[in-house]
Amino acid sequence: MPLPPYKIKVVEPVLVWGRETRLEQARRAGFNLFQIPARFVAVDLLTDSGTSAMSDRQWAGMMRGDEAYAGSDNYYQLEQAVRQIFGFRHVIPTHQGRAAEHLLFSVMVGRDDVIPSNHHFDTTRANIEVAGGEAVDLAVEQTDDLGSQHPFKGNIDLARAERLVRELGRDRVPLAMITLTDNTGGGQPVSLENLTAYHRLLDEHGIPLFIDACRFAENAYFVREREGAHAGRSILDITADTFSLAEGCTMSAKKDGLANIGGFLALREEALARKIKERLVLYEGFETYGGLAGRDLEAVAIGLREVVDEHYLAHRIEQVAYLGERLRENGIPVLVPFGGHAIYLDAAAFLPHVPRELYPGQALAVALYLESGIRSVEIGGVMFGKKDPETGELLLPRHELVRLAIPRRVYMTEHLDFVAESLARLHERREEIGGFEFEYQADVLRHFTARFRPARSAPKPSKISIED
Ligand code: F0G
Repeated sequence: MPLPPYKIKVVEPVLVWGRETRLEQARRAGFNLFQIPARFVAVDLLTDSGTSAMSDRQWAGMMRGDEAYAGSDNYYQLEQAVRQIFGFRHVIPTHQGRAAEHLLFSVMVGRDDVIPSNHHFDTTRANIEVAGGEAVDLAVEQTDDLGSQHPFKGNIDLARAERLVRELGRDRVPLAMITLTDNTGGGQPVSLENLTAYHRLLDEHGIPLFIDACRFAENAYFVREREGAHAGRSILDITADTFSLAEGCTMSAKKDGLANIGGFLALREEALARKIKERLVLYEGFETYGGLAGRDLEAVAIGLREVVDEHYLAHRIEQVAYLGERLRENGIPVLVPFGGHAIYLDAAAFLPHVPRELYPGQALAVALYLESGIRSVEIGGVMFGKKDPETGELLLPRHELVRLAIPRRVYMTEHLDFVAESLARLHERREEIGGFEFEYQADVLRHFTARFRPARSAPKPSKISIED
């Protein structure tokens, strides 16, 4: 692994609790890891969002927070960073990524519109649906094969995209999206070649492309490493080429902004920016702060410049791959190629004796917490499963995954070894791990607040179907 291009100045304690305390916490939380207080978590791999360690320069920048209501200096720093890195003229700050999505779709998407992407992230999909539209996922078919070694599993299936835009045209497709990297598909990158072809297709139909840019720097790194034509180019050059194809981007600075809060919407066109700023004032704040403090804007402005550093990215991507490699060595089923921000465990293969209707992903995530206080997130039947309101049939997603998301600049190799060893131990005695059933679930986004109990028996299999 490359030398970490940073060293430690401030440390935060990791409290290590005994198994009994963890069991008590898990019971209290209804076996839902979202409901466990973070102080009872030893290694927190729930998300890479908002969990980065900030640099000394970012902390120093926060002291320069200019908390003027209008026109704070930090806004202009952010504007300049976004203009230079992404090439968009109009920069609209928001409190996080989903606020940028809400603003964009509430202005551009209407009833019965259809918005394609490789995979929409959940909040993107929800914001499109709230605006009356339909979010359609069109990633290449290799994405569905967890073992496929395709280097760009985040790519768009161009044939399907073409069919969609030919059939519906600009009238029904007011904009198209693409997510860099494709989080839902496993943190997988999109090639510049694929993005260029997607843009060409959209352009022929007069449809503007918007990029969900959350992990843009990680994507650029993969392009450089895996796409021959771009080998050896700088991250900034690749990023400039990437965003030159788009009309704008939505950004959660909690990922590749290396900040703990913040986001923005960046746009090429003035008329659209003006319309969106009218809404910004209504929902987020004045146009130069968008719901953030001046110090937060500064942290994002500096974070964006740090994240495109080649040494940082090399270490980041290799650190994630290191964990993946250690798991693979121990025979643990993982999604390949390894993602940019996370390793995804194939929980259905890890726990083949736990039927899908008893949520093997949930079972594995809870078992890992009980074993060693490691928090992961289930991305499977709990998160995406639905009950058909008419037939009562349980509809489950194709895959049952557990994501180990790696916060940026936070954990050391020893932490990752600890995770790998814990999972190896669990894998050896996987037969002892049983499934879960719901005790309580909300109608929407049930995974955040659900309560579970260890399952006694499986529901009748005839009531289940799995997406194909
Ligand atoms: N788009 C992608 C691809 C994301 O991964 C996220 C957040 C968002 C948009 C929304 O950004 O949280 O700032 O509002 N993903 C986090 C995760 C929550 O854990 O993957 P936000």
